[in-house]
This record gives sequence, structure tokens and C-alpha cells, in this order.
Amino acid sequence: MGDIILIRPHCRENVKTHRLSTILEESLKGYSYNTISTVEEFHSLQNKKILFAISLGESGINLELYALLKKIRLDKTCLEDSVAGIIIDGDSELYTKSVAREITLSANMSGCTFPGRPLVEGTKSLENYNIIAKNLDTDNFDAYIQSGKTLVRQIMKFEPPKHRKPKLLVLHASSYETSNTVNLWEMVKEHLEEDCEIKDISIRNGAVLDCIGCPYTTCMHYGEKNSCLYGGVIVKEVYPAILECDALIMLCPNYNDAISANLSAFINRLTALFRKTRFYDKYLFAVVISGYSGSDIVAQQLIAGLNMNKTFILPKRFTMMETANNPKSIFKAEGIEKRAKDFAENILLQLKGDD
Ligand SMILES: Cc1cc2nc3c(=O)[nH]c(=O)nc-3n(C[C@H](O)[C@H](O)[C@H](O)COP(=O)(O)O)c2cc1C
Repeated sequence: MGDIILIRPHCRENVKTHRLSTILEESLKGYSYNTISTVEEFHSLQNKKILFAISLGESGINLELYALLKKIRLDKTCLEDSVAGIIIDGDSELYTKSVAREITLSANMSGCTFPGRPLVEGTKSLENYNIIAKNLDTDNFDAYIQSGKTLVRQIMKFEPPKHRKPKLLVLHASSYETSNTVNLWEMVKEHLEEDCEIKDISIRNGAVLDCIGCPYTTCMHYGEKNSCLYGGVIVKEVYPAILECDALIMLCPNYNDAISANLSAFINRLTALFRKTRFYDKYLFAVVISGYSGSDIVAQQLIAGLNMNKTFILPKRFTMMETANNPKSIFKAEGIEKRAKDFAENILLQLKGDD
């Protein structure tokens, strides 16, 4: 068995796969690997290092990928305790990110962990490498190749940190009395209090102003002092709490198939702090509730914003997703106590290890 399992779903349009082949050749140099390219070849991959390599072409659709996703979604332990990253190559400016976050959530729900920044994407123009190429003093194609190499090294050396008494930071923007999301968190929290230090911050009522997108130098200037032009609760309370915590827990009701405005503003405002500090050693967990449907979209937004962009670790089964609408109706969901307990146990297992 090789160092890495390469999951590279077969692409029928062979001519479109040349760029992906080049980046893979460079990224996997020095490693041994086994390739899975069809759904028939896919079997349970527990405790493995995995690289998903996807060719999307112009349409953003790779049919073999969907067959694989189906299998991953149905066998909920098929990637148990594996660690993965994704290289995704498109012939369009669209779809690379949305397909990547869909793969990430599905794999995560089947037991796979993703280190911070687990995605290397090549859009048709490779303009997504403008900044990285400038920073590396190279061209966009070479920046893409370098990013692939870095990703594989990162997957190989990934060692999730463990903590004796983990520090959790819980962020929410809901009413404590009426929110199903908060009610569910309280059910989870009950099983964590003994083993964790838990800090809870509410960012409600317009207390958080959204990022105004200062020029890079202004953002950098404030970021170096762990601050941001806007100041307020984010700088005074949330930044220090983020630096202090081992895991961030986001409580996210589904508002119009997205996380709510205050929580979204928090992620945007994290940019200034991120300029100086990366979060590769901090975990992300989330409780997501929808009144009707769409929790997976909210979870994917968290994956894109906090794991893919802001470098938080995505531990296996990072999110609990439920459906409840009227106040307190979460208490009536069948089996909810047991699911809350299981979720808490997973948080403890990820943060503390087996001992
Ligand atoms: C402004 C607003 C927008 C909402 N949009 C959606 C939605 O798009 N889809 C959905 O399933 N539920 C939606 N809901 C319902 C909530 O997700 C639902 O009430 C759920 O219980 C979580 O919210 P809670 O923690 O405040 O109770 C929305 C609720 C509000 C207040």
C-alpha cells in the first residue's frame, strides 16, 4: 500500500485532464500512491492519507465523481479517521469551489478530517493565483504547482493537536430563550462541561459591523496589532478569545440558506487577525439548524470560510445538522438527546484523543 490514496475520478474528456496530470506529477514526486479512478475500485479507506484530484472541464460536472460521492454519502464510515486534501482543476472560472466544498462536507460526514487550507483549485484562467504568484515571485502556473506540492506535504505531516482540558469558544447571534440552535447547543454542552473550559460570546444586535474591505496595507497595519480599523466587540472580545481557544464552535441557524449576518460579519472581520496569525492548530465545529431544509449549504459556507480560507482544522463529523422551526421544537425531535450526546463525545474525542 502506498503513502497516499489518490482518488481521481475518471474524466471522459481526456484532453481536459492534461493540466491536472501535470500538477499531480509534481505534487506526488517522492511519494508512493495507489489510484482509485472508478466507483468499482472504491472501498472503505480508514486511517489513510487521501488526495482527491478532480478534473471538472468546462461544465463543472464529472460524472464519475458523482458516483463516488453517492458511495461516500451512503457508507457513513467509509473514510473513518482518514486525512484528506483536494486538488480540483476546471476549464471555467466557475464550479471549482462549490464542487470542492460539496466533496469536503460529504467526506467529513463519513469520518474524514481536513487540515486547514485543504483545497488547491485551478480555475481556467488561473487568475485565482494572482496574489500567491506575486508573493512567490513566480507566474500563476508555477504558483498552482507549488500550492499542490505544499498541500501534499501538509496532508502527509498532519498531526491533529490534542489537549488535556480543551478551551472552547462558542459564538452565536441568537436569542437564548427562543433559539432552537442555542437549545440544541445547551444539550451538547451538558456533556462537555466537565472536560472543557467553555467561553460563550454573543454577537447580536448590530454589535458587529461588517468588514469594509480596507486597503491591504491598512488591514495589515491593524492586523499586526491584533486589531482592525473598526474596533468594537470583535477586537476587544472575539479576537483575544480566538487566539486563546483550541476549538471554535459556531451556532448557526439557517437564515435564507446562509449563516446569519452577524456571524458572517465575524468571519469577514477575522481577516485582519488572520493577516498575522494562522489558525492551523485550531478546530472548527458547528451546530446548524434549519426550519425547513438547506443545513448542508450552511455547513458548506462554514467549510469554505473557516476551513478552506481561514485555515481552521475540519475534524471528522464537524457539524450537527438538524431540522426544527417553532421555538423549542428541537426538544421534540426524535432521538435528539442521543445525537447531542454523540456529537459531544466526538468533540471530546477529536480534542483530547482516546485517553
Ligand atoms: C430571517 C430568517 C430566515 C430564515 N431562513 C430560513 C431558510 O432559508 N431555510 C430554512 O430552512 N429555515 C429558515 N429559517 C428558519 C430557521 O432556520 C429556524 O427558525 C430554525 O429553528 C433555526 O433558528 P433558531 O435557532 O433561531 O430557532 C429562517 C428564520 C429566520 C428568522
